[in-house]
Amino acid sequence: MDKIKNICCIGAGYVGGPTMAVIAYKCPNITVNVVDINKNKIDKWNSNDLDNLPVYEPGLSEIVEKVRGKNLFFSCDIEKEISNAEMIFLAVNTPTKKYGEGKGMAIDLKYVEDSARLIAKFSNEPKIVVEKSTLPVRTAEAIEKILKSENPSVKFEVISNPEFLAEGTAIKDLFKSDRVLIGGHKTRQGFEAVTALVEIYSNWIPNEKIITTNLWSSELSKLVSNAFLAQRISSINSISALCESTGADVDEVSRAVGKDKRIGPEFLKASVGFGGSCFQKDILSLVYLCKYYNLNEVADFWKSVININNYQRDRFTKKIIQSLFGSVSDKKICILGWSFKKNTNDSRESSAIVVSSNLIENGAEIRVYDPKVKKEKILADVNEYWLNQNIKRDLINDYLSRIKIFENPNDASEKASAICILTEWEEFTAIDWELIYSRMKRPAWIFDGRNILNREILKNMGFDIYQIGK
Ligand code: NAD
Ligand code: UGA
Repeated sequence: MDKIKNICCIGAGYVGGPTMAVIAYKCPNITVNVVDINKNKIDKWNSNDLDNLPVYEPGLSEIVEKVRGKNLFFSCDIEKEISNAEMIFLAVNTPTKKYGEGKGMAIDLKYVEDSARLIAKFSNEPKIVVEKSTLPVRTAEAIEKILKSENPSVKFEVISNPEFLAEGTAIKDLFKSDRVLIGGHKTRQGFEAVTALVEIYSNWIPNEKIITTNLWSSELSKLVSNAFLAQRISSINSISALCESTGADVDEVSRAVGKDKRIGPEFLKASVGFGGSCFQKDILSLVYLCKYYNLNEVADFWKSVININNYQRDRFTKKIIQSLFGSVSDKKICILGWSFKKNTNDSRESSAIVVSSNLIENGAEIRVYDPKVKKEKILADVNEYWLNQNIKRDLINDYLSRIKIFENPNDASEKASAICILTEWEEFTAIDWELIYSRMKRPAWIFDGRNILNREILKNMGFDIYQIGK
């Protein structure tokens, strides 16, 4: 097979944008076209205002600046770019289904199906189709069926290449991946397609880090990787509750446990709960898959990871209410951090949404500051949260009137009874806490949902402080 010269990626989101920028940067001989149905997003990717790309990631704008217009292009011309490409990546969203069979658990494959139909429609020559989105096992079979039935005259080879980048460190992760996983059919065409993609990654990833497997192992390994990572967080979070009852300190326990090489130190940081668009949806997808195959005990095991995450968020909210004498009604509570982790503008499934909404439902006035998430997004997040809870429009409007967004922590915390740290943004450790203390109500509480602050120093200033698992 000739070397790949022209790639198309369907989906210009958190995965499509950064992964394609890095492929273009590392492979100057390949032309990479990223397409999306969302014109507004494509306009932002093409804008000269590099500080406002649709995705905020450290190091991303510098790479986009270097390759955009040379061998990296963003457009809405899906027909043209599919037709020109030899290899097409699917990096569309795969959310949890909101209605119908499998509602609240199974993956909604609508966007994947739409993309497959577009590929079939606009292809006149053989194409390699790469699953980059995270998908339930055997989705490749469904994609193949659509392609074959819609366009029997063209040869398509579907392979799986799940993405393991984490937001906030996407560029670092893409430059130095722990591994690249590529799964294909064990046929001659399957082998050729896998080899074509291996050659692309070989431009910067050492061969020993490129793992090739069968298609179903590759699809499943992605779900399992996320489930294992989330399981570690729920494990340490469950222990944080026990620490609070016994006088043990969860950070000390985590350090001691993580020193064992067989366990390792990563993903043992207790928190208010994991967020992000993927952990919950991918575990739910795994649970649905297990139930589909009648493996109910396995399904229950993985479902418990989500149960503990919900418990942790709930526990945190209750702790705030209890500490403020059993009621937050008409009290000002400052929320520092809205994104689901530091160094990203992504707030999907952020714990901040759940904690803030619950506090507002309990009568509080919420005052938010986040360095990267925009005001409109914060308001849209809570609005969507309440709509999903079937709350009536009038009540939602009342709730929305009780959330205010600020440009800095000082204004956000003025006259507040409590401050909640919900994202581990580094700038929160450099805040002038004495100044903030002087402007807050008494007793002045800090609920540190990320355990990033120095407890003793803050206590000496006069704060009451709660940290997870302490
Ligand atoms: P996203 O919502 O940021 O981006 C998806 C994009 O696909 C959107 O811009 C949407 O408009 C576009 N799209 C949908 N249907 C389309 C169509 N028919 N034609 C053209 N464009 C279309 O989603 P994301 O966070 O980039 O995630 C994409 C996939 O990657 C998901 O399966 C996710 O599980 C997986 N993943 C995400 C991450 C992450 O950090 N966000 C990491 C690893 C894997
Ligand atoms: C995660 C995985 O780490 C990626 O490998 C994967 O590709 C990605 O999901 C995906 O499939 O979308 P991401 O969600 O971007 O990446 O970020 P993480 O660093 O995994 O953090 C997820 C959540 O867990 C965040 O809310 C974070 O604050 C929380 N977390 C993480 C903890 O509470 N404790 C920890 O020790 C680590």
